[in-house]
Parts: sequence; structure tokens; C-alpha cells
Amino acid sequence: MPDKIQSPKGTHDILPEDAERWQAAEATVRKVMDIFSYGEIRTPAFEKSELFARGVGETSDIVSKEMYTFADKGKTNLTLKPEITAPVIRSYIQHNLGKKSPNTKLYYIDSAFRQERPQAGRFRQFHQYGVEAIGSPHPEMDAEVITLASESLLALGLDNLTLKLNSIGETESRTHFRNALKEFLSPHVNDLSETSQKRFEVNPLRILDSKNPDEQALLQNAPQISEYLNEEDKAHFAEVCALLTECKIPFEIDTALVRGLDYYTRTTFEITSPELGAQDAVCGGGRYDRLVETLGGASTPAIGFAAGIERILLCLESKGLTDEKSVSHVYFVAQSDAARNTIIPLVHACRQAGVHTDFDSLRRSMKAQLREANRLGSATAVIIGEAEIEGGEAQVKNLETGDQTVVNFKNLPAHLVALQI
Ligand code: HAM
Repeated sequence: MPDKIQSPKGTHDILPEDAERWQAAEATVRKVMDIFSYGEIRTPAFEKSELFARGVGETSDIVSKEMYTFADKGKTNLTLKPEITAPVIRSYIQHNLGKKSPNTKLYYIDSAFRQERPQAGRFRQFHQYGVEAIGSPHPEMDAEVITLASESLLALGLDNLTLKLNSIGETESRTHFRNALKEFLSPHVNDLSETSQKRFEVNPLRILDSKNPDEQALLQNAPQISEYLNEEDKAHFAEVCALLTECKIPFEIDTALVRGLDYYTRTTFEITSPELGAQDAVCGGGRYDRLVETLGGASTPAIGFAAGIERILLCLESKGLTDEKSVSHVYFVAQSDAARNTIIPLVHACRQAGVHTDFDSLRRSMKAQLREANRLGSATAVIIGEAEIEGGEAQVKNLETGDQTVVNFKNLPAHLVALQI
């Protein structure tokens, strides 16, 4: 026998029993997005690699280590999207969306691909929902996007969340901070881990993310970004904090929150859950006022976030919160070979009427059919044998109580619709 083929490492199938939870989560997200007046955007699964190199940044882990990049037959260098912000901005510029509306509010529910080491809550193909609000530089927009992130997670059933907030300032403030941090760290470079030594050269701010206890202790005395913000950065951040306080959204200021993508300016935020292990971020985002320009558009400020759907479902699972099947189900049981054919048009008529209906196509015994009805959690069985065909009437059995009624074939769809309400 040929070998069985397994799905690639870090990917997973979503089977029908899990798909219901995905559908419910996606429906909730769409509802919240609609309430906040965001329109859906769908972008291709792959883009030109240059988009991410320029957009997310050559020095980021995502671009330098984690991308699925390939040349197609025409030798175009392409990448499976590792994140969705750069593709959305590419599309925004390409279709001149800013012309239609000076404040373009977009959302997505989509797959992303990163060649990371798989572990709990970390996959190579994963799913995000997120938003990009393009056009407003003002703190009101930051507050809207952060309240949307928070509200959507609450609507999905998550609680116990922590919102971490920071401002990494405009480019100029960050350059001053970067220099000060390098100066502080330079006497200790040889004591740093290999990763941090590399980051010291290319992107020293990322050393602040270090989980290494020795490095964390050293960073206790490091300069803080808040000391390097210019007056406008400070005023912007103060207003974001004030608006969130007025909206009664609790937050913690975390001056080490720099995020792993290079496009951020000013506000950065993450929402974490104690339900998750090392990968505890359910959501991350921030302002990126230079990205539209970097990707060839007119200078336009923007802010957004993305939340990991697998991580959200893991949180709900650990809380024992899973959706119950809400619709009752009808299973047709054929008592004879003639009945097997009789039920097909009846099943079809019921489905056309919107009744959740199934039947046995394996020609199994009546006992096996009833067992299947049970396995599916059917509320009702419609039983048809020789006598029923003759009388043109079906036995409709409530599988919970055992009560049975006789219903004319013609009236079956309407009768079953009424039972479902
Ligand atoms: P990110 O922090 O890289 O940001 O990803 C956002 C969320 O996606 C994370 O908080 C996490 O829940 C989930 N996630 C990331 N990587 C994985 C993975 N390997 N497996 C499972 N889940 C994962 C971004 O992607 C930015 N584009 C967010 C953004 C939008 N910033 C502005 N606008």
C-alpha cells in the first residue's frame, strides 16, 4: 500500500465538528465589524515578495526568516502572505480607495503563512481577523480601533484579557531612543544571547522583547522609549489613553512593547490571555503612519490590528465554552427497499423548505439508521415503510420523548418547519 500523506507540519484541517465553531466565530466578527462600519476586503493568498520586504521590513523576523517564498514559472518572486496589513495597503493604493473616502475602514478574515517552529498556539498556516483604518492621524481613530479589538474579543466570549499599550513615537523620536539603547547595551554586547547580538546590529529595539531572564534584568535599567517621545507623540499618546479610560477600557502601559513588524509608529498595542501559554498574544496592532508612503502611495496615516483565530478558539476551549448545535435535525428512516426511493423526493422537499434533513444512503438496517439519527443528534425521525407508502403518510417520531404522530407526505415539509421553530 502506498504511504499515507500527512498535512504539512504546522498546518491543520478544520473538520466539520470544528467548522461550526469557526463559522460561529466568523459570524460574530462580521456582526461586530458591521456595527463599527468596516467593509470587508479580500486579498490574494500570495503577493510579490517585495511587498513584504518593503512593507514589513527586511530586518523583521517575519521577512528575514519566516516567509514562504518561491519563484513561479515566469520567475516572479512571490510570497504566501505572512500578514495581511501590507496586502491591504497595496490594494488600497492600487485601487485608489482613498479617493472614494478620506477615511477607509476595512476588515478581513483570512489565512496567513509563517515558517515558524510550531508549538501550542503557533502554526505555519493560521487565521486572522483584523482591521485597517486608513486616513485619520487622530487619537479618536486609535481609540476606535482599540475598542473594536476589545469589543470583538468580548463578543467572541473571551474574558480575563489584558490590553498592553505603548507609544514608540515618530521615526525621529525612535532614532534617538535607538541610539540611547545601543549606547546603554554596548558594554554588555558580549553577554547577550546570539539572537540579541544580531538584533543589536540590525534592530536593537527588538531586544526589549527578550524573554531571557538575564537580559530582562539588564533591561530594567535601560532607557525607556517614553523619555524619548517628542511633544506631539506625548500629546497623542496621552489623548489615546484618556479616550480609552473614558470608554472604560482598562489597559496597562508597557514601555517594552515594540512589536515585531517594522512599520509601526506611535501607538502599539497587544491583548493577551492567561489561558494561553508562551504564545499569549491573541491580538496585536498599532499605528503605521508611514506605510502607505513606503509602498508608493500618498502620505496617509493608518492604524489597525489583527487577532489570531486559532488562539481565540484555544482560549474558548480551555474555558469549556463551545457552541451548542442550535438547529434541530430530522433523519429519514426507510423501513424497506421501496421506501428508500420514496424518501428521496420527500427529503428534497423538506430541504427546499429549509429543514435540516438527512437520510441513509448506505442501505443499512432500520436499527442502524436509528443509531445514525442518534449519533447526529437528530431531534426527529421520519419513518416510512410499506404501510406508510400505501397510506401516503409518514410516522414522525420525537426522538427525545418517543411520541409519534402521523403526517401526510404532502404536509411533511410544513409540519417539520413548524417543529423547528
Ligand atoms: P502579529 O502580531 O504578527 O501582527 O499577528 C497578530 C496575531 O496573529 C497575533 O497576536 C496572534 O494571535 C496571531 N498569530 C501570529 N502568528 C501566529 C502563528 N504563527 N500561529 C498562530 N497565530 C499567530 C500582524 O500580523 C499585524 N499585521 C497586525 C496589524 C494589523 N497591525 C496593524 N494592522
